[in-house]
Amino acid sequence: MKIGVLTGGGDAPGLNAAIRAVARRSFERGYQVIGIKKGWAGLLGEGEYEELTLRSVSGILHLGGTILGTSRTNPRKSPELQQQVLQNVERLGLDALIAIGGDDTLSVAQWLYEQGVPVVGVPKTMDNDLAETDYCIGFNTAVSIVAEALDRLHTTATAHHRVLVVEVMGRDAGWVAVVGGLAGGADLILIPEVPTTVDRVVKHLERRRSLGKDFSIIVVAEGVTLAEVAGKETIAERDAFGHVRLDRRGVGETLARVIEEQTGFESRTTVLGHLQRGGSPSALDRLLATRLGVAAVDLVTEGKFGYMSAIKGQNVVPVEIKKAVGVNRTVDLSLYQLAEIFF
Ligand code: F6P
Repeated sequence: MKIGVLTGGGDAPGLNAAIRAVARRSFERGYQVIGIKKGWAGLLGEGEYEELTLRSVSGILHLGGTILGTSRTNPRKSPELQQQVLQNVERLGLDALIAIGGDDTLSVAQWLYEQGVPVVGVPKTMDNDLAETDYCIGFNTAVSIVAEALDRLHTTATAHHRVLVVEVMGRDAGWVAVVGGLAGGADLILIPEVPTTVDRVVKHLERRRSLGKDFSIIVVAEGVTLAEVAGKETIAERDAFGHVRLDRRGVGETLARVIEEQTGFESRTTVLGHLQRGGSPSALDRLLATRLGVAAVDLVTEGKFGYMSAIKGQNVVPVEIKKAVGVNRTVDLSLYQLAEIFF
């Protein structure tokens, strides 16, 4: 059996652990593994790939990034690109293709499956917003980084009696903001799922001031829209999948400016950005990636194509890729209510 493996979309800590798991389980079964480079881009044109060996996947468990490289290439954009992907899968003689990625990567995987390619998925996105799985690779590391950053920001916020706005990743869902904010003791968390207004943010800060709290840490998910400041944001460009570049939109900085104007609190912004995605994966992400990677190869062995390995409760289970993509798994509101107790 010849299995292709690729990582697509934004990188996340734990990708190498997943690649290693896919490779090691495959070698154990006597399968050959072809590592496709740079996500779907590696199946365009002449193709970019290399055979993975015991040696090439050794020593990578703890490394961030992905030894295969990644990209946000969308081969569904034109019939020519679609053709190239299908031809390369055939030319390489792949008996199965394991796609490790989030909603964009797995929606391409689903399309390929519908074209007759034997595909299996592995869920990865630090945003943690894929449906049909409780956790995605990269999320646990990201929230640990947010919590550590909040610990550090607390001391400087109190020293200067400032409002610190911390912008975290999370395009359509506020998982990183809520879980990272809860773990780091945020004084307010703004997420796309719970619409709010600048007015309410200001009132909250005034209330804290009346309680003698002269500093605040506000965590804001980059995807939040605040009606009153919508016009003040920079209009940003879009990526290959049509998503607005939220880092250019700068909701955190806009919010900090408005807070300073309306409350008189000196305010600063910290954009955690790609720090949340870089570096070594947490122990939990390594474990999750290992379990999901091994399970993906087992799905291939069983001929269960069109499925991804997912985690539900304590168990790794197969779920149909088509059910996981195109649906945004939003934050469980009871979790947000838990965080609100501490605002
Ligand atoms: O999709 C995951 C994500 O981390 C989003 O939270 C963020 O908006 C986006 O990637 C940014 O990715 P990049 O800078 O790689 O385009």
